[in-house]
Amino acid sequence: MSEPQLIQSPSASPTVVPLTEPPSQGNGGTVVLPVQSALALQNSPKTTQVGLASSKIKAVASPFAMEKPLLVKAVVTVKPNTGGLFSNIGISEGLDKITDLVGKTLLLELVSSELDPKTGQEKGTIKEYARKTGQNKEEVTYECEFKVGEEFGAVGAVSVENEHHEEMHLKDIVLDGFTGGPLNIACNSWVHSKFDNPQKRVFFTNKCYLPTETPSGLRRLREEELAILRGNGQGERKSYERIYDYDVYNDLGNPDSSADKKRPVLGGEQLPYPRRCRTGRPRSETDSQSESRSGTIYVPRDEQFSTIKQLTFSAKTLYSVLHALVPSLETAIVDADLGFPFFTAIDELFNEGVNLPALQKQGFLKDLFPRLVKTVTDAFKSVLRFETPETMNRNRFFWFSDAEFSRQTLAGINPYAIQLVTEWPLRSQLDPKIYGPPESVITTDSIERQIKGFMTIEEAIKQKKLFMLDYHDLFLPYVNKVRQLKGTTLYGSRTLFLLTPDETLKLLAIELTRPPTDDGKPQWKQVFTPSCHSTGMWLWRLAKAHVLAHDSGYHQLVSHWLRTHCATEPYIIATNRQLSVMHPIYKLLHPHFRYTMEINALARGFLVNGDGIIESTFSPGKYSMELCAVAYDKLWQFDSQALPNDLISRGLAVEDPTAPHGLKLAIEDYPFANDGLLLWDAIKEWVTDYVNHYYPDPSCIASDKELQSWWTEIRTVGHGDKKDSPGWPDLKTPSDLIFIITTMVWVASGHHAAVNFGQYTYGGYFPNRPTIARTKMPVEDPTEEELKIFWNKPEVTLLTCFPSQIQATKVMAVLDVLSNHSPDEEYLGQDPEPAWKEEPVINAAFERFHGRLKELDGIIDARNNDQRFKNRNGAGIVPYELLRPFSEPGVTGKGVPYSISI
Ligand SMILES: [Fe+2]
Repeated sequence: MSEPQLIQSPSASPTVVPLTEPPSQGNGGTVVLPVQSALALQNSPKTTQVGLASSKIKAVASPFAMEKPLLVKAVVTVKPNTGGLFSNIGISEGLDKITDLVGKTLLLELVSSELDPKTGQEKGTIKEYARKTGQNKEEVTYECEFKVGEEFGAVGAVSVENEHHEEMHLKDIVLDGFTGGPLNIACNSWVHSKFDNPQKRVFFTNKCYLPTETPSGLRRLREEELAILRGNGQGERKSYERIYDYDVYNDLGNPDSSADKKRPVLGGEQLPYPRRCRTGRPRSETDSQSESRSGTIYVPRDEQFSTIKQLTFSAKTLYSVLHALVPSLETAIVDADLGFPFFTAIDELFNEGVNLPALQKQGFLKDLFPRLVKTVTDAFKSVLRFETPETMNRNRFFWFSDAEFSRQTLAGINPYAIQLVTEWPLRSQLDPKIYGPPESVITTDSIERQIKGFMTIEEAIKQKKLFMLDYHDLFLPYVNKVRQLKGTTLYGSRTLFLLTPDETLKLLAIELTRPPTDDGKPQWKQVFTPSCHSTGMWLWRLAKAHVLAHDSGYHQLVSHWLRTHCATEPYIIATNRQLSVMHPIYKLLHPHFRYTMEINALARGFLVNGDGIIESTFSPGKYSMELCAVAYDKLWQFDSQALPNDLISRGLAVEDPTAPHGLKLAIEDYPFANDGLLLWDAIKEWVTDYVNHYYPDPSCIASDKELQSWWTEIRTVGHGDKKDSPGWPDLKTPSDLIFIITTMVWVASGHHAAVNFGQYTYGGYFPNRPTIARTKMPVEDPTEEELKIFWNKPEVTLLTCFPSQIQATKVMAVLDVLSNHSPDEEYLGQDPEPAWKEEPVINAAFERFHGRLKELDGIIDARNNDQRFKNRNGAGIVPYELLRPFSEPGVTGKGVPYSISI
């Protein structure tokens, strides 16, 4: 029997970057000996104490002088590939991959966490080949045994070389045989084939270390690992790479396919924008500013969850909807401009459904979207039949009422837009030379007529009773451009509400504005109010449709995409580039960043791209993302992403040390704010416990080099276009760090859940939230024909203004998938990360966090059952559950996942 190899320490050099050699060391010129027989290993003595009790280990002069080495068994668990998101989504691929693993091995090397006390250099690694010992559908296991001498010290990392031609997804490595118990190393990572890249992978143990506390034997590896993740910013990224780097949004258009598909670059001085992940694809042939598009979009390998999650994984389902269902809808509904002829035709989407042409892999799609695709009569025919949204189930006419319109600004899917009116009369800040007179035509008289009996307008402003949806100055500069596009229109709008004594909002007036046109027409604006007369009632309904389209656009482009998905991507990139996986803050943030880069790449490819779902179904059309960049420039700042600051900035709360959460709400029954602040506080307490544990000395924050580089990079690179804007807190104290982390966690969890998982409930019946208003108001420069239709059949005017059939059904299918929780959804506070579990103080803090979330679940339930809260309880009203932490799978309108996963 041969002895397992212990390798003499080489003269380990200090950090050298970039790497051209594998990160592990100590193998120069060494022959690796054959693997021992299991029987021989079982007979080995197991008496020596090593590993975890490193402080008790006596250093010896030579590794070969050791006595009674400890026998340590390594078990590596590998998860089979289930198919790539952008490749073929097939269920058999995973099994094929398993067969490839037969006969191949993994080369493991144990890395000591200590330096050689004699030489001051890194100790040699201990190598063994792990061979496959078992497999089932879920997992494949590889095993080997090491002999670890006492002088080796604690194992700090394992380096892995994959001898297969295929990459492998390592779930974990368990080293068993140490007297302190098994050592678990959570990997959850792809290991490339050595034939693709000879660089070995390093997996550190689960223990967290601040940079200065890094065990001496691991310092070089810690820095080198970060250098690998940063890459050198050159070349096109390959699918197996793990490089996190930045780029501007210059891949949304496709100028090579047609000049009309060129889109401006988002990011830079002209159109400030957060950065996205760099892919390094070649520039477009016809536009040197644009990156060329391709069928696959690089994201770092460990961000591609679609290859390891089940078929029900949200990103996979969305991909399938976009690639199979939407095209077949386009085939089924030939006339893209065709609207719904009657309201009953809209209802048919929930009853009869839309006949779909024969679909490829039809059975597969039916399995994938049982909610959407149903079989009829024979196996070859399918219909797309939508589930009735919960809003309609409870009240068939819910969308019709002003009360429900107002309630949804506080308890719907866009509770981020309502703001307090602080000045009167309302005025635009835009240049009057371009956009016309800035004064609003909502007069004191017109409002006081509406609020007669409550108070004067002056009292309403003073008592903070007047609220507004303000889509005036943001949209007005785009009105003329958008109106040149076919099949859409736009206004700037203001919508006013009065807060009544029962804490509900009364809808008062809508002002729609069109700026002067290029062909010489002057500014047009008009105020619409609720009316008891038929003409006024129909105009009011049409004005509401326009505002709802504005709110849908703002919701999707700003509250949802920009403020959660898009703003978070630079945090993820910086975290991977600047914080080692050993860093406690990396470990704290990691579950909140899972799945986001992959879903964002999917969105860049098919949702927010030129001619994608957003452009083809929302009012601003091809200007949608440009508007999103304008909103980032004018409205976004980091500190306002914190819920308390967001509420204060909109005038919905003021600081009050005597009030719960330190805030007094302007609208006491504001379901989103009330539930959100409880969730915010729960997150903040957990983050506080965590930060205080790892930074017992406050000065360590300022001296933590990784942490400081991380925050600098977020401010000056990832969000660098806004680096000189206000709102960036310092990072000098634990409370700074707690604020920053709590804000990021809130955005990825509570904020995203609040604007995401109710989308089908509120947008599934589109008259409640049309994404587009296709035609202007019939009273704006009307033609005779327009007026005739309006007078004779106003319902036709409204239906023509609403989305077309293809627009409506596409959006409904996408919203249905976006609102869905997959069966393996990971809810906030449900399962701790492996590293959290291993640290008793953190584990206890996590248990408290979990307990508070369970409590919150109960509180929200009780609030929804309390009839005093009229904005969440009442006849036919859908209760406000979007911030209930836990949920069952499906479209449930509740549940707060850890991260932005859909
Ligand atoms: Fe989302």
